[in-house]
Amino acid sequence: MKSKSEKIALMKREKDFTILAHNYQTKEVQDIADFTGDSLELSRMTREIKTKKILFAGVRFMAETAKLLSPDKKVVLPVEDAGCEMADMVQLKVLERMRREHPNAAVVAYVNTTAEVKAASDICCTSSNAVKVVNSLENDEIIFLPDKNLAAFVARQTKKKIIPYNGWCYVHNQIKEEDVLNARRKHPLSKLMIHPEAPENIQLMADYVLSTGEMQRKAGEDDLDEFIVGTEEGMAYKLKKLYPGKEFHLLREDSPLTCLNMKKTRLDDVIVSLENEQYEILIDESVRKNALRAIERMLEIK
Ligand code: 13P
Ligand code: SF4
Repeated sequence: MKSKSEKIALMKREKDFTILAHNYQTKEVQDIADFTGDSLELSRMTREIKTKKILFAGVRFMAETAKLLSPDKKVVLPVEDAGCEMADMVQLKVLERMRREHPNAAVVAYVNTTAEVKAASDICCTSSNAVKVVNSLENDEIIFLPDKNLAAFVARQTKKKIIPYNGWCYVHNQIKEEDVLNARRKHPLSKLMIHPEAPENIQLMADYVLSTGEMQRKAGEDDLDEFIVGTEEGMAYKLKKLYPGKEFHLLREDSPLTCLNMKKTRLDDVIVSLENEQYEILIDESVRKNALRAIERMLEIK
């Protein structure tokens, strides 16, 4: 009898699928993926992929971004309700009110937003290019959404006035000073990498504030071989696999930072998803053009 991973390997070849998995997916899912990466890397990759179909193991906004960038491919999300709580916090009517209150401001949307919110924004950004995107704009005022912590990270590095939306990621926003102090006590020789979705006081305690893609690069380049990984636990698995000679500690070893939506996808869901080619991502034509424009404006910034 075939193992689940053998079955997946066979099915994806037969059905012309490439499997992409975000760095926060379970070990099992990361292991059967053709590529793992951060949200934007994976979406960009869809343009180079030769297969006609893509299974995106991640959360909905990521699969949507992939579909926006590769409209000719069939993109499926294995678990229909794998959403991002932070992306779902943005209400269009609140954004409209903020626009009315700040008529001269540009709206910068983190990629962790729905296609509708991207379409209502001027430009997108990721956690690695947010400062560059903000500084590239002519406007002196920037409405930044949804993450108030990433907004604070940007505000420290720009002269522009940042008007944050009151959103946050429950996974990163729960990090406390005590967690950092405990981890530093346990691993005094490690450098601490923190995701900019963590609260500002935590960012200020870190050696590096980095997106997951940047963590991957930094861990490879740095002379140091021991790190505390201040983001969702899946990233530590990814780093250990990539750099077996280095050590990666979870920031909270007793109660790891876990994104429940990211962990919804199991190998059985991948099998059913390949079998039935579900759940297909479809984006309303009225939203598609403007959402893509916001992403492409970002991609034009070098
Ligand atoms: P990355 O863009 O760094 O992959 O992060 C996505 C995310 O959801 C962070 O919580
Ligand atoms: Fe959304 Fe946070 Fe999960 Fe990332 S870790 S997908 S921002 S809820």
